[in-house]
Amino acid sequence: MTKKDATRVFGTTRRLAAAIGQGSWKIEESATDSAIAAMRRGLDLGLTHIDTAEMYGAGAAETMIAEAIAGRRDEVFLVSKVLPGNASRRGTLAACEKSLARLRTDRLDCYLLHWRGAVPLEETIAAFDSLLRAGKILSWGVSNFDVADLDEVAAIAGAGHPACNQVLYHLKERAIEHAVLPWCQRHGTAVVAYTPFGQSTAAYDPRTKQGRVLAEIAESHQATARQVALRFLLRHPETFVIPKAASIAHVTENAGAISLELSGDELARIDAAFARGRPGRGLPMI
Ligand SMILES: NC(=O)c1ccc[n+]([C@@H]2O[C@H](COP(=O)([O-])OP(=O)(O)OC[C@H]3O[C@@H](n4cnc5c(N)ncnc54)[C@H](OP(=O)(O)O)[C@@H]3O)[C@@H](O)[C@H]2O)c1
Repeated sequence: MTKKDATRVFGTTRRLAAAIGQGSWKIEESATDSAIAAMRRGLDLGLTHIDTAEMYGAGAAETMIAEAIAGRRDEVFLVSKVLPGNASRRGTLAACEKSLARLRTDRLDCYLLHWRGAVPLEETIAAFDSLLRAGKILSWGVSNFDVADLDEVAAIAGAGHPACNQVLYHLKERAIEHAVLPWCQRHGTAVVAYTPFGQSTAAYDPRTKQGRVLAEIAESHQATARQVALRFLLRHPETFVIPKAASIAHVTENAGAISLELSGDELARIDAAFARGRPGRGLPMI
């Protein structure tokens, strides 16, 4: 990704968001001052797409983000999520107000249904429409939605929805590439990769076969294995990544992927080293 495509059109919104953002799950478990300093450094380095949710730390993550973005709201593409248990029409409106209050802002750039629950989608979407009309959200999307769920959303809400689908996507979990990513590409829906580093560090260990591939490619660019991994996930123009980092060192490393460019051969090597897996396994989530 060259600096010039450090921001990308965020799905059907026609607005730009940083391709590399900042996640915030469990951020409240880190020392508040250093985590906030890291997030601010991330903003300085262009990681202005911030992902949070009412669920994270039961609101504590949103409260920390409010401090990190204080005075800088206009720089930020801010995303939060409603829990499925709150996603009734009235519940969604109330949850959004609470998120806005914790984030000390008057609007979200995108508001997501965190995963599909028992509430009919029509209700949640009706609430999203009201919030859009009121200017409290500028777009809405979904998270952890498989193709059948996405079809339902499109049937209810029509073209242009959802703006994004936030899904589990990392080098060792490429299931979305079979059907969810193609669906999103056909519908102009952004794909936001959560847990982009995966749940294990083995891929970044040069003593492993896969880690060696990343390390060799990284070395030839004076980059790191994690930067190479992020860049691979961003090889499709519809995708975004939201790594969570609680230290300035980690944020700085992640931001370094902005200027990394991988060749077709390098992408093919990574593709071969990290199997995509068989189709039809359903959509994995954590
Ligand atoms: N929609 C959903 O259902 C869903 C589910 C899961 C996650 N998410 C979102 O996606 C975000 C990212 O996912 P995640 O937090 O699960 O996992 P992740 O971003 O893949 O990994 C986070 C872990 O990687 C470490 N890390 C970050 N940068 C690093 C670096 N340069 N070098 C070494 N370690 C580094 C972090 O450590 P430090 O914290 O110590 O820096 C943290 O332990 C979440 O924070 C959340 O916003 C959404």
